[in-house]
Amino acid sequence: MMLTMRFQKAFRGPLGRSAVVVLAFFVGLVSLTASDDSETYSTNEAPQSIIVRAPHVQLATPSSIVVVWRTEKRINPVIRYGDDPANLLHAVSNQNITIRVALGTNRAEIKQALEKSPEIAHFPRLHSAVVGTWQYEAKIAGLQSNSKYYYAVYDGDTRLTGRDPSYRFTTHPLIGQSQPMRIWVVGDSGTAREGQSLVHHAMTLFTAADRRPLDFYLHLGDMAYNRGRDTEFQSRFFKMYEPTLRNVVCWPTMGNHEGATSKGTNGVGPYYDAYVCPTRGEAGGVPSGTEAYYSFDYGRAHFICLNSHDLDRKPTGAMAQWLKMDLERTKADWLIAFFHHPPYTKGSHDSDREKQLVEMRTYIMPILESGGVDVVLTGHSHIYERSMLMDGAYATPTIAENVILDDGDGDPNGDGPYQKSAGIHPNQGAIQVVAGHGGARVSRKGTIPVFRKIIVEHGSVIMDIDGDTLTGTMLNKFNEVRDTFSLIKRGRINPRRILNPWQPPNWRPPRSPGEDESTVEPPEDFIEVIPKNAEWHYLVDDDPEGLSWTQLDFDPSDWPLGPAGFGYADNDDRTVLSNMQSNYARIYIRREFEIEHADYVAEIGLMINYDDAFIAYLNGKEVARKGVGKGHGHEAKEIKGHDAGKFVYVALKDFEKHLKDGRNVLAIEGHNANKDSTDFTLDPFLIIED
Ligand SMILES: [Fe+2]
Repeated sequence: MMLTMRFQKAFRGPLGRSAVVVLAFFVGLVSLTASDDSETYSTNEAPQSIIVRAPHVQLATPSSIVVVWRTEKRINPVIRYGDDPANLLHAVSNQNITIRVALGTNRAEIKQALEKSPEIAHFPRLHSAVVGTWQYEAKIAGLQSNSKYYYAVYDGDTRLTGRDPSYRFTTHPLIGQSQPMRIWVVGDSGTAREGQSLVHHAMTLFTAADRRPLDFYLHLGDMAYNRGRDTEFQSRFFKMYEPTLRNVVCWPTMGNHEGATSKGTNGVGPYYDAYVCPTRGEAGGVPSGTEAYYSFDYGRAHFICLNSHDLDRKPTGAMAQWLKMDLERTKADWLIAFFHHPPYTKGSHDSDREKQLVEMRTYIMPILESGGVDVVLTGHSHIYERSMLMDGAYATPTIAENVILDDGDGDPNGDGPYQKSAGIHPNQGAIQVVAGHGGARVSRKGTIPVFRKIIVEHGSVIMDIDGDTLTGTMLNKFNEVRDTFSLIKRGRINPRRILNPWQPPNWRPPRSPGEDESTVEPPEDFIEVIPKNAEWHYLVDDDPEGLSWTQLDFDPSDWPLGPAGFGYADNDDRTVLSNMQSNYARIYIRREFEIEHADYVAEIGLMINYDDAFIAYLNGKEVARKGVGKGHGHEAKEIKGHDAGKFVYVALKDFEKHLKDGRNVLAIEGHNANKDSTDFTLDPFLIIED
């Protein structure tokens, strides 16, 4: 959050002025002031261990930048900076550093902390960090545009950052001034797994090889799986990208996984604690009044961040109204929009079906395209998909007829770059880029016919804009260029719609494998909707009539309740069925669960450890069957043996036809191949990817 806005919000009301004074008093312990131009410090260098989130740069403008870091105890924060790394002539402290503290949510603990140190009541809060964490947001203002500076973080006169020229930043060029730029575009990366670090490493190799470093970084959301918690931000975003973030500003948009703990509606949560985004048009564009969506300029390019997750996406909503104003006022040559949920995709998500994606296409794309957008960058779907030059594809499902303006590959070394008129003109075509391949498991569901390149690999996009030419490079995690597209905006072009454009090759899901192979990997970003070891109603030594027991209106209240797993022997059961062996071969279990938005769910599946076989039903409809040849219940036949031992993932087929908003029920019948078998296991839990 912008410093002064956060400050004003935190101190709104009668306390306002006095609180400012108190804050100034407490941080006034630091003897330097913002205008201090004293000599380079003779320093006592300290180990960095007091720093729990390394310094990183945010909210660059032509004349300012914000350096943010965290410590585990309070310091007297000072930033020293200058154009010579050996001679940091200037300093910022006091009122230009917003200091925030995490006091947690436990009222008794907060009361205790405030009794011990009453002055901390006056600091704005960090909403989500470990109690006792301090965050400093130091605004360095009065800088030259398009200029490189070096910086160091101090606690009073003790230097906390090493003497390392990588602690640096470059201010933006003046708005309207033509300036080449290189942008790193990454989505859905926050796993802290090898894929994410390889993608990062590939970018560093690529930019080092052509000696063209990044100017800034756009993150398309899902940067901190699984729920965007503060600790996940630390380990899966800040730590993973630390060497880049210390000198390259990351402009973020919130993903649904961050949305599990942060709310765009009130701007509270770990995401909003982590970032300082413009709310008042500080870096160009129309003030949005919120960090959830905003815009900024870099030279002659205008960048628009939208929240596709938890705000009103309708044309009448506040975000769309702001967007129209922002598009009307910009005088840039280039218009780039970025947000999390893609208007077009068949990667791990389906834009023909899922509500947020459909709404971004039908409500927001018409506004962006009539505003003249050139490139739309999104994530969420774990794949790389890149369109032809297109306009006006708002139908559901997406079709290619009459919406493609150039069906070539856009490659300067292939069919040649796409072309548009110089300047901003409505509906001259945009390139859609889905770059949700930054680290989470990649997958594909099908084909959207407007795409020219569909690549199921980990990677990122490096986007260069130089004068009238934009070039996008898809770099995979092995530092191989897998796609290049280019757009030239020059002269006057009359776009024409192609009735029957080029079409991507036919694609079919990998051949339906044999029964046991159809167990696929679970989504790594799942949420449990029926937790592991949850309590289920169960029926043993009896068979229910028909399938009514699998339906929502069935009353199971005379069935006992017990925690999963169910079975005997193996020592893997919580509900031990001690008289099952040689008496009965089947068990029936059911449990209700809640889904808030069924049309947000990309995939739902069982994590299940079983011996020997089962059939699962969702709201009365069969959605999975393993090891049961024919029939169900006491008429089930051809039961195959299967040993328990590990949890496997079984996706529920056709779930979108049966899953509902609100209450749902999952019912499972478990079968032993043989009544006299030495063991039996049925241990399920239910997960979704949203
Ligand atoms: Fe997502």
